[in-house]
Amino acid sequence: MSSTNPSIEKRKRPGVARSYRNEQIEVDWEPELCIHAAYCLRGLPQVFDRNRRPWVMVDAASAGEIAATIMQCPTGALRFRRSDGGPQEPLPEQATIEARPNGPLYLRGNLHIVDQDGTVHELPRAALCRCGQSANKPFCDGTHRAIHFNTSTAPGEG
Ligand code: SF4
Ligand code: FES
Repeated sequence: MSSTNPSIEKRKRPGVARSYRNEQIEVDWEPELCIHAAYCLRGLPQVFDRNRRPWVMVDAASAGEIAATIMQCPTGALRFRRSDGGPQEPLPEQATIEARPNGPLYLRGNLHIVDQDGTVHELPRAALCRCGQSANKPFCDGTHRAIHFNTSTAPGEG
C-alpha cells in the first residue's frame, strides 16, 4: 500500500491553479484571481500563510473550518471540495452583487462569467473590476488600490 502525502501541492495548469488536499478536503487556489484581500490569512492563519511553503496546510485545521474560511474569500481565488461527507459550498441561484467602497464588485452565487474571449468561468464568488484598470478584466487584480480609485461622489455631482 502506498502512503500519500497529505498536503500535496500540484499545479493543475501551469501558472493558473494549485491544489492542496488530504483525505477530507481539496483546496484550489487561482493566483490570478487573488487580490490579497487576506480574509484567508486572518481567518485561519495556521492554514493560510503566505510566508510558508506550501502556503496552504490542509492538515492544520478541520475541513469544516477550512471550508468556512474559504467561503469568506471574496474573489473566488480559493475554492474547495469536501471529500469527508461534509457540505459543499452552497450555490444560490440568485446572485448578489456588492459594490465595495473604492473597490470592485463582489459577486456571489452560481456564477457563469463569460470573458471577452468567450471563456466561461464558473465560480461561487468573484470580484469584478470597477475601476477599469485591471490587467485581468473582467476580474479585479487589485490595481484599484495603486491608483487610489475613489467611488465617493461629492454632494451635487449625482
Ligand atoms: S481571501 Fe482570497 S483574495 Fe484574499 S488573499 Fe485569500 S485567496 Fe487571495
Ligand atoms: S476594481 Fe480592482 S482593479 Fe479595478
